[in-house]
Amino acid sequence: PAAVIVAIDGPAGTGKSSTSKAVAAKLGLGYLDTGAQYRAITWWMVNNGIDVEDATAVADAAAKPVIVSGTDPSGPTITVDGVDVAGPIRTQEVTSRVSAVSAVPEVRAQITELQRSIAAEAPRGIVVEGRDIGTTVLPDADVKIFLTASAEARAARRSGELKGKEAVDLAATQAALAKRDAADSGRKTSPLAKADDAIEVDTTSLTLEQVIECVVTLVEEKR
Ligand code: C5P
Repeated sequence: PAAVIVAIDGPAGTGKSSTSKAVAAKLGLGYLDTGAQYRAITWWMVNNGIDVEDATAVADAAAKPVIVSGTDPSGPTITVDGVDVAGPIRTQEVTSRVSAVSAVPEVRAQITELQRSIAAEAPRGIVVEGRDIGTTVLPDADVKIFLTASAEARAARRSGELKGKEAVDLAATQAALAKRDAADSGRKTSPLAKADDAIEVDTTSLTLEQVIECVVTLVEEKR
């Protein structure tokens, strides 16, 4: 079959990563976590002493870091200038700054180009997850999914993931998610949005298995 491109967008905590990885593995497709790329460039900015609130400084540096994403769904990798940053990009320090960095148009231009070339090179196709994949990065994707879930469900899932690592306070997690979503939805350049032709799946009362099955079925219908 021809390569199939699947775009999965939605706010944080809706199950995008778990769903996308599993769907890619089941269908033998590549997997790209675009949030990890924005986190990686943010990590580089912080590491190089750039004030992330200074949009001009961020824009000037946007082309400097070399970000490489591995697309195997069973073990996705991410490096910046050859350094494995899979761990450091998940810290609260990076999470709290990523929305400011990803709002800068020069950053989005860099990362979007990278994403398009990775998708174009995937031999059998790829599942790409993010915020603006169906609207901006890959508007011709074969299947577009927009995942949603209630604020409570999203905070509970994210708290569960963070358990043992960082703060597990549910209210604080919910507030942090709401702040990040508001920033991501409110920015001028390719905000978090559902594409007109995306299928919306509310995952609030679905199990992960059910969401995976639903997306796999939608992809198979298109193949
Ligand atoms: O998906 P994840 O929560 O790791 O994404 C981290 C951040 O990266 C988002 O909050 C958003 O600011 C940014 N992002 C983006 N566009 C994408 C994917 C992520 O702006 N396609």
